[in-house]
Amino acid sequence: MDKLLIQGGTPLSGEIAVSGAKNAALPILCASLLSSDALQLSNVPQLRDVSTMLRLIEQMGVKVTREGANGVVLDPRGLNNPLAPYDMVKTMRASILVLGPLLARHGEAKVSLPGGCAIGARPVEQHLKGLQAMGAEIQVEHGYICARVGAGAHGLKGACIVTDMVTVTGTENLMMAAVLAEGDTIIENAAREPEVVDLANCLISMGAQISGAGTDKIRIRGVERLHGATHAVMADRIETGTYLCAAAATGGDVRLTGVSSTCLDAVIDKLMDTGCEVFSERDAIRLKAPARLTAVSIRTAPYPAFPTDMQAQFMAINVVAEGTAVMRETIFENRFMHAVELIRLGADIKIDGNTAFVTGRPKLDGATVMATDLRASASLVIAGLVAQGETLIERIYHLDRGYEGLEQKLAALGANIRRVK
Ligand code: EPU
Repeated sequence: MDKLLIQGGTPLSGEIAVSGAKNAALPILCASLLSSDALQLSNVPQLRDVSTMLRLIEQMGVKVTREGANGVVLDPRGLNNPLAPYDMVKTMRASILVLGPLLARHGEAKVSLPGGCAIGARPVEQHLKGLQAMGAEIQVEHGYICARVGAGAHGLKGACIVTDMVTVTGTENLMMAAVLAEGDTIIENAAREPEVVDLANCLISMGAQISGAGTDKIRIRGVERLHGATHAVMADRIETGTYLCAAAATGGDVRLTGVSSTCLDAVIDKLMDTGCEVFSERDAIRLKAPARLTAVSIRTAPYPAFPTDMQAQFMAINVVAEGTAVMRETIFENRFMHAVELIRLGADIKIDGNTAFVTGRPKLDGATVMATDLRASASLVIAGLVAQGETLIERIYHLDRGYEGLEQKLAALGANIRRVK
């Protein structure tokens, strides 16, 4: 298994381009299942999760043609196998995003029920309840969600759905199911994440009628069919935030291009609270770090509040900042697994339930650490860039799932980082 070897202590400086967003690309790839013609996508990041999703829809009968490094054309006209097998779903929970589109377009779907994962139990009952409200008959048999449009019905029917909690992929699944349903659907308590908006924009360009994406009430008027379209996937706000944190923690000065700060208000506000200067341009963000950061307390919550996907990276900032930060994780019940690894690098962190108390130290010492999930791995990379001496990060396949060209981008910013086999 590959590992990352980092020689810490160099402030990051320079300019890199931000990639397309993983969490926008994944649902948009699934949106191709709804179409009657080919969907042409650009700015699709080259990531393990994207390849897994492409393999998944390919084995369903979608023709996948790559165009250059970040383009892909998806032709769903041969779709004949509405199955998401266990072997694929177990490696990527986002596979559940095929359920809504398959039901809407194909009338049936068999999708392995995702199990828990490192960061929490992550049930999907809201996806299922919403689809049932639209007339789907759903049974869980032998670990599979077996769903079909109700007997005698031609397709799904519009419904008013209020989800019990804000769920990002739940909102996306229901929105995709509703675009071909008969009549109107209203999703209340909808996720407002920018990735939901990007998916809605792609669906609208395919002929869907959707309003309110980006608010907590999304209205969808079902249409008979969706046509092909072209769509550029939005820039990755979490990748952006991760590099900004890496620049901040190392005392660097970095400019990120191909991204605007509009989706990053909560993150940028907190970075400014640490003492960093952040300059927002139309299509770029620059961060300049002070000599020593000030600790910042955070509480994760659905968008537009502070994202859970940035909590681990901010912990890496707080472990070297001046003062004590209180970090509260409200989305996932087990998302502090990076803390014990950061402690191996010399961090002072105490965990009490969903709250971490982090007291900054002037320095960290390199050590061997183990990555446990995608964002935890990113936090260890940031800490390794700060730590004195060598840090070896094991199990970096998590990083390959969500960061395009991570070590190349960091090396371009002057980091001493390399992948060892
Ligand atoms: N939840 C339920 N029941 C449901 C659905 C969700 O109890 O039916 C709970 C979850 O267990 C969690 C909370 O609701 O406690 C929110 O989960 P959500 O459904 O919003 O998460 P998700 O859609 O599975 C997406 C991202 C995650 C990101 C979360 C929160 C994708 C593919 N994944 O997951 O991204 O952390 O939203 O913003 O969009 C990552 O990129 O590293 C990542 C984990």
